[in-house]
Amino acid sequence: MLICISVHLHICTSAHQHINMGHKKLIRFAEIETFPNVLQYPEGKKGRWQEHFGNDRPLTLELACGKGEYTLGLARMHPDRNFMGVDLKGNRIWAGAKKALLEGLSNVAFLRILIDGIEHFFAPREVSEIWITFPDPQLRLGKAKKRLTHPRFLRRYQNILKPGGKIHLKTDSPNLYQFTQKVCALYGCPVLEQSDNVYAQPEVKPELAIKTYYESLDIAGVNRVHYICFTLPEQLPGAELDARLQQELMQDEQPAS
Ligand SMILES: C[S@@+](CC[C@H](N)C(=O)[O-])C[C@H]1O[C@@H](n2cnc3c(N)ncnc32)[C@H](O)[C@@H]1O
Repeated sequence: MLICISVHLHICTSAHQHINMGHKKLIRFAEIETFPNVLQYPEGKKGRWQEHFGNDRPLTLELACGKGEYTLGLARMHPDRNFMGVDLKGNRIWAGAKKALLEGLSNVAFLRILIDGIEHFFAPREVSEIWITFPDPQLRLGKAKKRLTHPRFLRRYQNILKPGGKIHLKTDSPNLYQFTQKVCALYGCPVLEQSDNVYAQPEVKPELAIKTYYESLDIAGVNRVHYICFTLPEQLPGAELDARLQQELMQDEQPAS
């Protein structure tokens, strides 16, 4: 009987928590509709972000921003630049956008879109810099094309980045780090900086010391943060090279005989 009551209570509590979570998300979704710093699949913004910010300062994107710790951290460090967090999930964006409003950070915005369609929202050369912070590493080989540093994505970034614009990746995943190094080598992307253990360096740059929610989770379980900063060549090799990349990845996965 006691067991029965306990099981019933557990089911009720989880169901209640579930409903609460769903309710919270709905409230957040409704709230971001009213936030002036959140744009959801906006029409007609491509090439016109300077109007949105009211100035012509350089624009940095944080892709896969989640709650936007980098967007906020960098915006506080560089009030003379504009920053935009990009993510699909409205309830995560809500957290960063709300903080930015409370802090009065006028150089911050959030864009709720699928990164796969990023070129529809920015004109050529409209973006000065890109940060990619703890993205899903998409470990399965069949999902390599979804990694945010796969050449399929780099080609999209090239269509919106200023020539020489830096791309920064911070990740806890050694696989994604090594994958990105391989992509840089194969596609001729100059690497400006790299480290497989950011916090082991004698001096950690303030920009690299910003911590994100997923960083604190250490999902990869390696207790190391990896960082690579690179630029894109004038002309990225075409899709024909992607098959070779996939082949090399398959070979890397095969156990040595
Ligand atoms: C692992 S979380 C990292 C969030 C945050 N940067 C952090 O470190 O806490 C990855 C984020 O990427 C977003 N994401 C993944 N693929 C995406 C895509 N193709 N377009 C938009 N957002 C995407 C997810 O919604 C999720 O919030």
